[in-house]
Amino acid sequence: MSVPTSSSRVAVITGISKGLGFALAKELADNGWCIVGCARDAERLRWACLAIGKDVIGLAGDVADPAFRLQLVETAVRRWGRLDALVNNASTLGPHSLRPILDLEEADLEAILRINLLAPLTLMRLAHPHLRRAKGLVLNISSDAATVGYPAWGGYGSSKAALDLLSKTAADEWRDDGIRVFAVDPSDMHTDLHLEAVPEDTEGLADPADVARALVPLFDGSAAYVSGSRLRVRLPNLERS
Ligand SMILES: NC(=O)c1ccc[n+]([C@@H]2O[C@H](COP(=O)([O-])OP(=O)(O)OC[C@H]3O[C@@H](n4cnc5c(N)ncnc54)[C@H](OP(=O)(O)O)[C@@H]3O)[C@@H](O)[C@H]2O)c1
Repeated sequence: MSVPTSSSRVAVITGISKGLGFALAKELADNGWCIVGCARDAERLRWACLAIGKDVIGLAGDVADPAFRLQLVETAVRRWGRLDALVNNASTLGPHSLRPILDLEEADLEAILRINLLAPLTLMRLAHPHLRRAKGLVLNISSDAATVGYPAWGGYGSSKAALDLLSKTAADEWRDDGIRVFAVDPSDMHTDLHLEAVPEDTEGLADPADVARALVPLFDGSAAYVSGSRLRVRLPNLERS
């Protein structure tokens, strides 16, 4: 049985129950997109999906699980017959939060890379045939920690630096497929992740809803950046980093 193709555009976004992922899912849904998203906490995800809109499917699960990654992409294609955008947003600071390198065990780094790098890589590979058909978009959410080398941020920061290079490489490899790929530093935002990392820093943080609005031009095609550019949000704008 063939799946009817929706006339609406369809995005898979990881980590939609709060923070930037929630704000971006809501912003895109308000602009007519259909969303498949995830988070581990099923109850929080259920409430988030109710707030996002009617064309949203929330799957409770962990992007560290390879079978769950496949489920995310397959659900979008089975339900709506297409996939126009993949947003790798879900992220971890580490199983023990931030640790200086002398305390960073191999197992810590493996756990970080599984979520922040291997999940995006696998999702990009799974999404590729559908994104090629749609001339679609991959948006990998990075961080200033990828470029600065803040003490204790080495595990998280190196995973984001690797994600940046993966994005740039995929942009070149997939240029002829018509797929645009960007890594974006969203800036410091008022979210649980930021609160966990820097609890004392509560002033001047961006509202994730404003950051999500700044990202919309990448989705509606109005942003003229060359695929593979590393971008950053400087509210209210998006700019090359
Ligand atoms: N906040 C900042 O200042 C800041 C700065 C630079 C970059 N960033 C980047 O921006 C992105 C969004 O961060 P945020 O601050 O919005 O984070 P957040 O508020 O902590 O939200 C993270 C979302 O991802 C989900 N998630 C986390 N780990 C997951 C996993 N293993 N599998 C599935 N879902 C998972 C969370 O739900 P569950 O916990 O229920 O799974 C939640 O929905 C991240 O890539 C982060 O690195 C943030």
